[in-house]
Amino acid sequence: ASTLGAAAAQSGRYFGTAIASGKLGDSAYTTIAGREFDMVTAENEMKIDATEPNRGQFNFTAGDRVYNWAVQNGKRVRGHTLAWHSQQPGWMQQLSGSTLRQAMINHINGVMGHYKGKIYAWDVVNEAYADGNSGGRRDSNLQRTGNDWIEVAFRTARAADPAAKLCYNDYNIDNWSWAKTQGVYNMVRDFKARGVPIDCVGLQSHFNSNSPYNSNYRTTIQSFAALGVDVQITELDIQGGSATTYANVVNDCLAVPRCTGITVWGVRDTDSWLGSGAAALLFDGNGNKKAAYTAVLNAL
Ligand code: XIL
Repeated sequence: ASTLGAAAAQSGRYFGTAIASGKLGDSAYTTIAGREFDMVTAENEMKIDATEPNRGQFNFTAGDRVYNWAVQNGKRVRGHTLAWHSQQPGWMQQLSGSTLRQAMINHINGVMGHYKGKIYAWDVVNEAYADGNSGGRRDSNLQRTGNDWIEVAFRTARAADPAAKLCYNDYNIDNWSWAKTQGVYNMVRDFKARGVPIDCVGLQSHFNSNSPYNSNYRTTIQSFAALGVDVQITELDIQGGSATTYANVVNDCLAVPRCTGITVWGVRDTDSWLGSGAAALLFDGNGNKKAAYTAVLNAL
């Protein structure tokens, strides 16, 4: 195969990227994205602040722009994200308690209702676990509504769109030896045991010198999969762009049948949220394929 999407499809997987609506007028960008990837995540356009800027008033203009571009170009879409402590609109930041809990439920229903039947998988809850050694929840306004907020979000999501896979998504849950990974693992195990609807775990996989790729990544993927959920690599970028590390990530996913797809968090280095100096993606700023691209294509 000569593209990332076609190569991933050989094993029934997808290869995606994050798309920014503001770049859809850049033909160099859309040429690469259109050719190489078969799954799309809106980089910001389906987040809470974008979709519900005023309480109870939904705006899907930018989200639909990304969605329509994807579908018109034959790609599926991952939804990102419904319940998160970050990128909340100002009105939501002010809420607490049962009012916030109800606002979260209304938000999930509003966004998932709009995209009902159209989304492959939703990151229902994003980044709910704390960094460091606690293995516990991150403090946030959502967490302060009660520890059951995550399962309420998932139950709401299942009812809102039964066709979408429902994912828990986080960063720094790649390294099996880290407390945060174990915290999320224990939550997913508990959800499966109690019948809380969850279909997938998203490993963001933002690798850098503070949270480098570790060879136990395959163990992490296998361990989550063994709980009975799919694993998706949802926001991959590797600071410095090591071709070897990119190949390791692909090989680890391919080693686990339930690792169903990989998404890189942007197209060219100049599109990366980390800045072009991080050189973290598969294409350089001129749209040329990097060594990491070839390593990924060959590994798929
Ligand atoms: C980032 C986007 O790439 C930026 O454009 C934005 O300014 C901040 O958010 N984890 C996530 C993503 O789940 O939504 C984040 O995306 C990167 C970290």
